[in-house]
Formats: sequence, structure tokens, C-alpha cells
Amino acid sequence: MKVGVLTGGGDCPGLNAVIRAIVRKGILNYGHAVLGVYKGWKGLIDEDLIKPLSLGDVSGILPRGGTILRSSRTNPFKVDNGVELIKSNLKKHDINALIAIGGEDTLGVAAKLHEMGINVVGVPKTIDNDVMGTETTFGFDTALNIATEAIDRVHTTAEAHNRVMVVEVMGRHAGWIAIEAGIAGGADMILFPEKTTYVDEICELLKRRHNRGKDFSIVVVAEGARLKLSKESTVEEEVIMDQKLDAFGHVRLGGISNKLADLIEEGTGYETRAIILGYIQRGGTPTAYDRVLATRFGVHAIDYVHQGKFGQMVSLHGSKIVPFPLAKVVAQIKTVDEELIETAEVFFG
Ligand code: F6P
Repeated sequence: MKVGVLTGGGDCPGLNAVIRAIVRKGILNYGHAVLGVYKGWKGLIDEDLIKPLSLGDVSGILPRGGTILRSSRTNPFKVDNGVELIKSNLKKHDINALIAIGGEDTLGVAAKLHEMGINVVGVPKTIDNDVMGTETTFGFDTALNIATEAIDRVHTTAEAHNRVMVVEVMGRHAGWIAIEAGIAGGADMILFPEKTTYVDEICELLKRRHNRGKDFSIVVVAEGARLKLSKESTVEEEVIMDQKLDAFGHVRLGGISNKLADLIEEGTGYETRAIILGYIQRGGTPTAYDRVLATRFGVHAIDYVHQGKFGQMVSLHGSKIVPFPLAKVVAQIKTVDEELIETAEVFFG
């Protein structure tokens, strides 16, 4: 059997661990040939981006960040004849099954292709941890640890200068990194996409904290946080700094912390600074947790292919890896549970 593997969307620590596991088990246990499809779905549209992966190709990549297969945000449904080209290239290379490693967009394409008769298995990845059907995605733990360390470091400089520090983390539709890094790092306020936050209330909360004798504060904000000036504001605050769209129609985020820092300084009189953690959260070596989860996902993905369990995504349920239908993955984003939000709120102010 010939199995194609691709990584799509934003990269995330642990992608190489999945690829290594697929190649190792695919070749050594099942005798399958594994073909690397380079640059996500683009690699199936431009046929020269498909090459066999050997055991040597995946040797030593377990702790490496990024993806040896490279990635792109190409959406085949937005490319002329995209799906036809995918079908003919799969045929040309004799690829019987495909493993798509990606987030909601890549898995959304995988689900549609499966409905069109292509044998696909999905592997969920994203530092944002917002893929439905799995308790966690690999990459999230690494990003969470990086963000927590950053908050710890910001604490000491905030204290030294009696400043308010606004730390911006990733999280487009869900505030997993913001909430968990905020709890772990002892943030005084956390803003996230699941709830609208009001600037006047943040300022009041910070003033109350400073009146209690605290002379610095840490605010964590997710890049996709919903922000309004006050409950009375009728217009949602403009938080999008750049209107460029990707092939899946997502606006490029980043920069909400600068706007928020200005509003806090204006509303409280406290000196305020912003830090955007950005791609640092996605780069570099995965944590041990992410390496293990990614390896388990890779092993199970090639098992599903071997067993003919197509149209499924490998997912973490409790301590077990179980199949979850790809069609259900794309129906909804997995947002932060209310219990976790309430726990974080105990420590606001
Ligand atoms: O991986 C998901 C994510 O980190 C989002 O939080 C962020 O908005 C997006 O990727 C940005 O990625 P890029 O700039 O590569 O499109």
C-alpha cells in the first residue's frame, strides 16, 4: 500500500514526531510505502511536491520543531480544478490513502475529500487546542509552557518598574493558551475570545488591585479576544490590525495588546507596556508531553489506514487514542469550558 502524508496550516511543535511515527510503523510493521506530500494541499496540486520518505529521512527529527514536509495554507477548493488535480495526482503516484495532519481548515478539506471518495485519516494539530473531538492537540503543551515562562519573566520586570504589562498570546477562536498560561503564570486579568471584556471594567479592577497596595499588574490577552470600551458601547472595538485574509478567509490577527495597553494607560494613569509572544509560541522543540502525544497519534493514524478506518481523526479521549469522525470535527470549534474560565476569574484583580 502507498500512503501519502501531509502537514497543513500553521506549523506546531510535534509535527515531525507524528511523521516519524507514521513512517516507522508504516514501513517496519506494515511494509507500506510512505510518500511525503510537501507544503500541505499544495503538494497534491503541484505533483513535483511528492517524494518517498525513508527511515533515514525521519531519523533524528523527533525533537525538531517545524515540519520536514513544510506547510501551506493552500485551500484546494479555492484553486481552479484543485480537487481534480488532487485526484489525478493521487492516481498518478498510486497513493491509496492519505494522512492529513492539520487544524480545523486542513481537517475540513480532509473531511470533504473523504466524502468525495478519497481514503483519508486526520491527525489534529494546533497550538490553539481548539479542534473538536480531541481532549487536546499536540503543540498546545509546548505553547502553554513557553507562554507561562514568558509571563513569569514579565512579572519581575513589571514589579521592578511598577508597570502594567499586557502579554498577547495566540488563540484565534478559543482562549486555551491565554486562560491556562494566565492561571499558571498568576495573571491578574485574562481576555479571551469566548467572552466580551470591557476596558472600563479592566481599568477599575486594576485600580482596585493597586489601591490594595499592589504596584504592578499582569494582563494576558488572546489575539482573538473580544473587547469593548464599556458595556454601553454599541460598536465592537476594532481589534483587527491587519485586514489581510488567508485562503481559508481568516483575518491575520496580532496587535490587540498594543491597543489595550494604550487604553489601560489612558484609563488608569499607570505606565503600561505590551508584549506580543507571536510565533515564539509555535517554534522550537516540543515538550516531552507533546512528543509522546504526537507519537501516539502517528502510530494510531497509520493503524487506521492499515485497518481501512477512513474518514476518521485520531483523538485523545481520557488516556486513550480513539477514532473520531472527520465530518464532526469541522462542525464546531472547541472553546474553553466554563469551569476553567470560572477558575481563572477567581484570581482576577
Ligand atoms: O496555529 C494557529 C495560529 O497560531 C493562530 O492562533 C494564529 O492566528 C495563526 O496560527 C497565525 O498563523 P499564520 O500567520 O501562520 O497564518
